[in-house]
Amino acid sequence: MKFTTLKLAGLALAAWGLTVAPAAWSAEPWKVPAEESKKKNPVKADAASIAKGKKIYMERCAICHGEKADGKGASASALNPPPANFLDKKYMAANSDGDLFSKTANGRGMMPRWDIVLEENDVWSVVNYLRSLGKK
Ligand code: HEC
Repeated sequence: MKFTTLKLAGLALAAWGLTVAPAAWSAEPWKVPAEESKKKNPVKADAASIAKGKKIYMERCAICHGEKADGKGASASALNPPPANFLDKKYMAANSDGDLFSKTANGRGMMPRWDIVLEENDVWSVVNYLRSLGKK
């Protein structure tokens, strides 16, 4: 009896995972925990950091987010939800450095996580680069 109940619960969970998981990240706005959102950028946005961030961006992010960071990379049309457009002033104003850092580090769905590939300070430099785009 107990065994059957467990097995049923397991099946129900498996089915839930299959139907709910892919939909969960496809539509909902991407919220970052308050702690991470508030994090201060420890890397000064000087020319060296912005140049480093640009290099990493071109190598790692442009394929999806576009060389101009407008969200129109070569792979963008295959992705849903689409990669963010970092030239969108409203988007950039609504996201703190901590938000951009956390989303880049952790990824979601088709957006890869970068904390296993990039040094923390390099992710902050990418954030500095993205911020610098709006200022031109
Ligand atoms: C394989 C394609 C791909 C690559 C490479 C990629 N991204 Fe993304 N990115 C996405 C997609 C798709 C989304 C939207 C994901 C979602 O909303 O569920 C996204 C979302 C994001 C977001 C959050 C958008 C929001 O909703 O607030 C940030 C920030 C981001 N990417 C930064 C980066 C950075 C920085 C890099 C390079 C280090 C990078 N991405 C590389 C595909 C990619």
